[in-house]
Amino acid sequence: TSAQIGVTGLAVMGRNLARNFARNGYTVAVHNRTVSRTKALVEEFGQEGDFIAAETAEDFVAALERPRRLVIMVKAGEPTDAVIEEFAPLLEPGDMIIDGGNAHFADTRRRERELRERGIHFVGTGISGGEEGALHGPSIMPGGSKESYASLGPMLEKISAKAADGAPCVTHCGPDGAGHFVKMVHNGIEYADMQLIGEAYQLLRDVAGYSPAQIADIFRTWNTGRLDSYLIEITAEVLSHVDAATGKPFVDVVVDRAEQKGTGRWTVQIALDLGVPVSGIAEAVFARSLSGHAALREASRGLAGPKPSPLSESEAAAFADRVEQALYASKIVSYTQGFHEIAAGSEEYGWDIDLGAVSAIWRGGCIIRAAFLDRIRAAYDARAELPSLLSDETFAREIAAAQDDWREVLTAAVRQGVPTPGFAAALAYYDALRAERLPAALTQGQRDFFGAHTYRRVDRDGAFHTLWGGDRGEVSA
Ligand code: 6PG
Repeated sequence: TSAQIGVTGLAVMGRNLARNFARNGYTVAVHNRTVSRTKALVEEFGQEGDFIAAETAEDFVAALERPRRLVIMVKAGEPTDAVIEEFAPLLEPGDMIIDGGNAHFADTRRRERELRERGIHFVGTGISGGEEGALHGPSIMPGGSKESYASLGPMLEKISAKAADGAPCVTHCGPDGAGHFVKMVHNGIEYADMQLIGEAYQLLRDVAGYSPAQIADIFRTWNTGRLDSYLIEITAEVLSHVDAATGKPFVDVVVDRAEQKGTGRWTVQIALDLGVPVSGIAEAVFARSLSGHAALREASRGLAGPKPSPLSESEAAAFADRVEQALYASKIVSYTQGFHEIAAGSEEYGWDIDLGAVSAIWRGGCIIRAAFLDRIRAAYDARAELPSLLSDETFAREIAAAQDDWREVLTAAVRQGVPTPGFAAALAYYDALRAERLPAALTQGQRDFFGAHTYRRVDRDGAFHTLWGGDRGEVSA
């Protein structure tokens, strides 16, 4: 017998993905550098389906039917290159290597190019949903050639999460790095969602005076409405958890320094290169980095803040409703920014990414899954060439209804000294985009003054320079 798919790298993600394939009726070859892991998998879960345990790379490759489909689930970066170099010489033209790790899309582009020259399809694939998703159905974002997707797509569709309407949460994102790019932005949006939820929590605690358990209940209520999402759901779980050792709210015994593995940072770095304003995502990355500067924070503890002004019970309840509005409006803005970045990447690299299809495959399985994604899909269905999510009538109307509360919440945050960089960046983006005039005109004037960088006029074509040091006459540049 031969295997329809092989998975090498059997840490928790790889192991669960292999089991998912097996549970869906595929024969799965499994391989790991440390053989004991391979054995443990088959011993523990062998009854779930058909596994072929391979001890060596040669055995592994020989176990696969042709064209071979070989999934690598190892750490992004050098380990991925090492595994590719181990297996590529053993493969034949037409075979496929699927990288399911969180690779940087630029690495994926390079690997795809190098392997294409050797006749091998390299399928850089974003996979979201953590361990549970890998086992029960993740959201899958494959890039690579059309040919590879024709062979691989049906299998991925089978093991993927299904949206509420039954549609599989997988789509061929586009050639080479498109899948990993989409996954990168998914993670950037994940950072922004988490930051916004964190700010909502802090406001409910410090401005409204609620306890973590009460805030958990508020989040549970929100989760029955338009904010219905996995992240809101687990936030309520985390907030209601009580530490067994101390009896304190769990959230109060965790060190408040957020870590990151890099995908959110990449989203911002690439956005800077592409010239896309992803200010909300950037603030989320910076907020994590600020939280990690323990010494700096310690040195700043004594800085002056405003006098506290507690809210009454009824004021607190009204404030909580406003926070829901602010959170929702800010969320629309971060998705607007994220989709802008995907559109820009698609344009830059010629990927032709279908934004509606991307929002559809994020409806299930992934960390940012939410009822909200269905609405984004509807927005792109209604108008594929939507210039921005904010141009969608439904979203524009919702923000219009939310904006007074959004502004109130930010006013309260500023007045009471609660940092809300995510909410603030989102509102600033919104106000800047809708502004009739921006101070960018003044910036141009300053640039022309000190560096003769020239400017354009609103009433005539061409570039101009003012003779600032002379008679201030204007010349064509
Ligand atoms: C997912 C997650 C996953 C991982 C993040 C965590 O979609 O399943 O995004 O990829 O949990 O990379 O990222 P940080 O460690 O950077 O928070």
